Amino acid sequence: MIRLRSCALRWALPGAVVTLVLLYQARTRYSWGSFPSVSYRDPLGARQPGARTMTAQTPVTPLGSRAPRSTLQQFLGDLYGRDETYWSSRCPSGIRKRIAGTKFSSVFLEAIPVLQWARHARPAEYRRLRRYGGAHGWQEVGWPVVRDALTHLNVSANGRMFDARPGATAGGSPCVRCAVVGNGGILNGSRAGAAMDRHDYVFRTNGALTKGFERDVGRRTSFYVFSTNTMMHSLRNYASNGFRRLPQTLETKYIFLPDHDRDYLLLRAALTHLPVDRGPDEGARPERYFGKDLRAEKFKMFHPDFIRYVRNRFLHSSILDTPQRRLYRPSTGAVMLLAALHTCDEVSAYGFITPDYQAYSDHYFDPTHKALLFYANHDLRLEMSLWQELHQSRLITLHMRG
Ligand SMILES: *[C@@H]1O[C@H](CO)[C@@H](O)[C@H](O)[C@H]1NC(C)=O
Ligand SMILES: *[C@@H]1O[C@H](CO)[C@@H](O)[C@H](O)[C@H]1NC(C)=O
Repeated sequence: MIRLRSCALRWALPGAVVTLVLLYQARTRYSWGSFPSVSYRDPLGARQPGARTMTAQTPVTPLGSRAPRSTLQQFLGDLYGRDETYWSSRCPSGIRKRIAGTKFSSVFLEAIPVLQWARHARPAEYRRLRRYGGAHGWQEVGWPVVRDALTHLNVSANGRMFDARPGATAGGSPCVRCAVVGNGGILNGSRAGAAMDRHDYVFRTNGALTKGFERDVGRRTSFYVFSTNTMMHSLRNYASNGFRRLPQTLETKYIFLPDHDRDYLLLRAALTHLPVDRGPDEGARPERYFGKDLRAEKFKMFHPDFIRYVRNRFLHSSILDTPQRRLYRPSTGAVMLLAALHTCDEVSAYGFITPDYQAYSDHYFDPTHKALLFYANHDLRLEMSLWQELHQSRLITLHMRG
């Protein structure tokens, strides 16, 4: 990987993105006029209980001669499908109610798809998404691989983040409160573990080590977020710190961030209870990672539209103006935190990068101080600015010290 030394600390919405937002709005008005909303029927013929109706995907036709786009705009692809699953929050003070009064109102798309599942295993969706590379589309993934993985994500839990509103089960608030836990050294000595565990859901990622660190990082893992690559890396590199297996509790669900065909292959292996049949993980047994409970309910997968949207609108790094643009994607932790922002009513973020990051080790579980390194495939300084902005806009509560 390439070390990046010259990325300036800044928060700015480049003019290009503003233009794209306008294009998007013009485009959606056009599509609404031409393609009225239709009820969503999933490929299995079953309506999703509890989920509201969904509208058709934004049509695939290119903008064509009406609005010629530059190569960069085509690369970015600031045009997405639609999923209205998260419109229905009954929380009076939820993030979606508060966003209108903030600087994020013009970038936030109410109907951005967050997850992909069997509904998306369609040739038309494949034609639309194969234009985008890496985690942002299906360019490097063959249609049979996509299809064979997604068709197994065929239960209603695959299409939405949460099974039930906590108000329905706990008799309490209708608001979904989420703790999103990164791995930053700022958590060492934080004593924040009990506060994290008191949320309705706890999100963790990569080297999500809790054993021995409960006082600082809590015990619960409702969602473990990973790409196959980052998960294997964590198991390899943090085994000596005690991270030898993923969290495997009754409540734990696994959310893939697909940035390679190995994610689709591992997902299919898990859902068919068979070893991975090809690629770099050939022979890997899904039980090794996810335990014996391999029901479809245990798994979710981020939609490439969501990752592309996060990159284009929230983490539009200056790397995108360089030849390295194909290497760049938001970090796994960033996608996790922004997914929580789009699905929860309240978000508390712990262990994410803060301006005083040099005072802390890379991870809370490091036995000795390790400086945080910056790589060109992510833009952690831009992520740091975004977390500050979201905190100042009162959309998330960012845990800070000092
Ligand atoms: C969902 O997929 C599984 C295979 O993973 C299959 O056995 C099951 O019949 C499917 N369910 C429906 C409702 O089609
Ligand atoms: C974690 O905190 C303790 C207590 O402040 C400190 O002694 C230790 O060096 C810290 N660990 C790392 C890796 O910075």
